[in-house]
Amino acid sequence: MKRSELLTRIVITIFSLGVVALPLALWAQTPLIHARIAEGGGWNPDVIQAKVGEPLYLKFTSDDVMHGFAVGQMDMQPVDIEPGKVSETTLTFNKPGIYTFFCTRWCGLNHWRMRGTLEVTGSETNPPEPASPPLYVTLDLNLDAPHLAEVVPTEKASARRGAELLRQLNNLPTYQSPDYYRLRSSVQVFQDLSGSGLTDSQRWDVVAGIWQSNTTPEGFAEGKELYAQNCAACHGEFGGGDGVFADDLAAAGTASMQTMNGDMAMSMQTPANFSDPQRMLGASPALLQGKILRGGMGTGMPMWGSIFTHEQIWNLIAYMYSFQFDYPR
Ligand code: HEC
Repeated sequence: MKRSELLTRIVITIFSLGVVALPLALWAQTPLIHARIAEGGGWNPDVIQAKVGEPLYLKFTSDDVMHGFAVGQMDMQPVDIEPGKVSETTLTFNKPGIYTFFCTRWCGLNHWRMRGTLEVTGSETNPPEPASPPLYVTLDLNLDAPHLAEVVPTEKASARRGAELLRQLNNLPTYQSPDYYRLRSSVQVFQDLSGSGLTDSQRWDVVAGIWQSNTTPEGFAEGKELYAQNCAACHGEFGGGDGVFADDLAAAGTASMQTMNGDMAMSMQTPANFSDPQRMLGASPALLQGKILRGGMGTGMPMWGSIFTHEQIWNLIAYMYSFQFDYPR
């Protein structure tokens, strides 16, 4: 072998070693993130730093039960985290900001408290669009006040019949816009229709038709899926407020009342019953959005503002009204 050939080989060997060894070294350096149920400490660490545009390697393990990892408002496949095993993912952020990461597997009553923060720094290529305040803020809605409808239909209103009536009336286009629908409760729209010459049950059908026309089959399907994954454990599969954790929440509520002598304004409550027409038909989409964005602040209702996109929240809301209206399937 010639000297130059030998040199080339050495260079190649060193180079290829570097190619393999560098990521390996990086990998070994990446700290292992431990997942534990909220009572056991939740995520450790619960604050992670990242830079815009730079891949972030993450490694996880669970110290107790099965958990999951996902970042709020990010289109990503959740990562399952099994006890005693190591799972991994790589994320790249294209916007700076404070993100929330959360557990995606129901690991207990306080599952939703398993949240952590991802601080992403750096500059973004496109300047951010200024965020407008949510509707409940601009409308100055009191999210915690009772909002019961004074009248409710005698039977479930039919969106199919309502859609037919809307076609016949042909003069209600303003009702079928997000701006109209989001700001009004169903009962308000029912009352707005009092001059329409329709019977009460027809008016309720039109309301159902308007509500359905503000969602798409895809949006509705997404709302249904998000509801099953994130809400049903408390609010119940059919919205009855009777999910698997409902009793635990009620018990926690009684306990907190006792320790606080009942003077704590916001104590744990039983989950809201979405199959109650007075509650749901008395609530505007904007009000429900507010509660979902902000949470109950101590009632046991988690805040989802940093987890879901606005579109996902509107889809959830559209699905929640299906506990009241008969939608064609
Ligand atoms: C850990 C239990 C729990 C989970 C999970 C949960 N909720 Fe709730 N939710 C509650 C409780 C308790 C209340 C009643 C107290 C309150 O309104 O703050 C409530 C109230 C609400 C209300 C207010 C209803 C009204 O009439 O004012 C809305 C809207 C709501 N939840 C939506 C959701 C959605 C959507 C999800 C899933 C993304 C969800 N909740 C997940 C416990 C939960």
